[in-house]
Amino acid sequence: MGYLLGIDVGTSGARALVCDEDGRVLATATSEYPCYSPRPLWSEQDPADWWDGACKAIRAALAEAAVPGEEVRGIGLTGQMHGLVMLDGDNEVIRPAILWNDQRTAAECRQMTEAIGRDRMFEILCNPALTGFTAPKILWVRNHEPENYERCRHILLPKDYVRLRLSGTFATEVSDASGMLLLDIEKRVWSEEALEKLQIDRDLLAECYESPEVSAEVSAEAAAEIGIPAGTPIVGGGSDQAAGAVGNGIVRAGAIGATIGTSGVVFAFSDEVATDPQGRLHTFCHAVPGKWHVMGVVLSAGGSLQWFRDNLAQVEREQAARRGVDPYELLTEQAARAVAGAEGLMFLPYLTGERTPHADPNARGALVGLTPRHGKAEVIRSIMEGITYAMKDSLEIIHELEVPVSEIRLSGGGARSEFWRQMQADVYAHSVCTINASEGPAYGAALLAGVGAGVWRSVQSACEGSIRVESEYAVNEEQSRIYSEFYPLWRRLYRSLAPDFEAITQKVEQLYG
Ligand code: XUL
Repeated sequence: MGYLLGIDVGTSGARALVCDEDGRVLATATSEYPCYSPRPLWSEQDPADWWDGACKAIRAALAEAAVPGEEVRGIGLTGQMHGLVMLDGDNEVIRPAILWNDQRTAAECRQMTEAIGRDRMFEILCNPALTGFTAPKILWVRNHEPENYERCRHILLPKDYVRLRLSGTFATEVSDASGMLLLDIEKRVWSEEALEKLQIDRDLLAECYESPEVSAEVSAEAAAEIGIPAGTPIVGGGSDQAAGAVGNGIVRAGAIGATIGTSGVVFAFSDEVATDPQGRLHTFCHAVPGKWHVMGVVLSAGGSLQWFRDNLAQVEREQAARRGVDPYELLTEQAARAVAGAEGLMFLPYLTGERTPHADPNARGALVGLTPRHGKAEVIRSIMEGITYAMKDSLEIIHELEVPVSEIRLSGGGARSEFWRQMQADVYAHSVCTINASEGPAYGAALLAGVGAGVWRSVQSACEGSIRVESEYAVNEEQSRIYSEFYPLWRRLYRSLAPDFEAITQKVEQLYG
């Protein structure tokens, strides 16, 4: 039997996953690395850390699975989207990578929209210019660091930098390339028109493949580092969201993924290019050849609860350490003691600005409606409810675009607790389910590698053989009614606070910038 390797170049660490040709996961390993924020709104990483982390994770996963490198039939790459990696003529990294959650490019988004024209941008690129996307970051470097732009010979996305180190090949694939905002989404090729209007040289970009296509092979140099023979095929792979969707079996019309990790993503499969004329949802190529997806991104979903855990839950963290359980378990236990709707306490999860539906880098977190009757349980519950309402915002737009919704599959941290699963069913007012596979993007990347290596004949058949629904949660009508009463009020809060958020950001820049 042969084996498949998936590598996920994430924001908090690199993860490697080994599975067999029946899609059974044998081992995973993670190696963490830091994220830097040298100025407010900035978020950067060192690409060298991705490569070191990937090598460590690959060696550890192969060792744990007791799989010799010679038996790996294919490698699939996935990773955080939109990151900008710039290399010089010797393939040396010019400056730290600028990440998906970096918010410095508001002016460049306006510049890009003017250069291409808003309507034309929607026709070709299917999305508005957003601060997180790659093209505005390229313009930012050209505007602010012209000496770095001058030296740049290659532009890569995070996982594609790891591919370069694995193989010496410059390549990317359509799902991740979509998030650069330089790809013609319908034709699935680089947009000559966008490149010309932005005056970005096509030669800076890598060759663009479909996700299961073989794009490169392990080089002799990398073989020595990772213990997998030279010549092993590396498929295109996918963005973390598209590969994650493959790993969750979101590969047919009607299937929706709701993933609450650091960010929260509602991901809908689409047979056709479906574009939100207001640009609230992203429309990108799927990792399934010839298919697309729409998705909404909540920047600080699990990230909001993590903020609470790290800053305001020392007691729970200590208790959890003593009892040998995850602190999140203790937090959700407390939240379950509060009533649905937390007696009117509401939380906006916009700790790092927001993408869907507001596209507002200045948005901030807010806890509104406190009374003496509210304690920690209500605060935790309101955070979880606020995150779930933010996910529902994306689902509402998916309904508006008439993209079919027949099944909602949960994954990420938000799928781990029974309580949050039920809350999602009740807030979405739609039954939800969990599946047997919980490894997300790295698993999807391994399945894509299997398709490229000829183990399965299509991405759909890889998923059919490997992924099953495990549990279903029906809507609790009584709770759902309470959430449906609060949801419009919760939506109003952002609209009321948005001008204040902007004023706060300006004041912060003036006082501390
Ligand atoms: C998607 C997005 C994030 C990153 C990081 O558009 O920005 O989900 O891919 O995971």
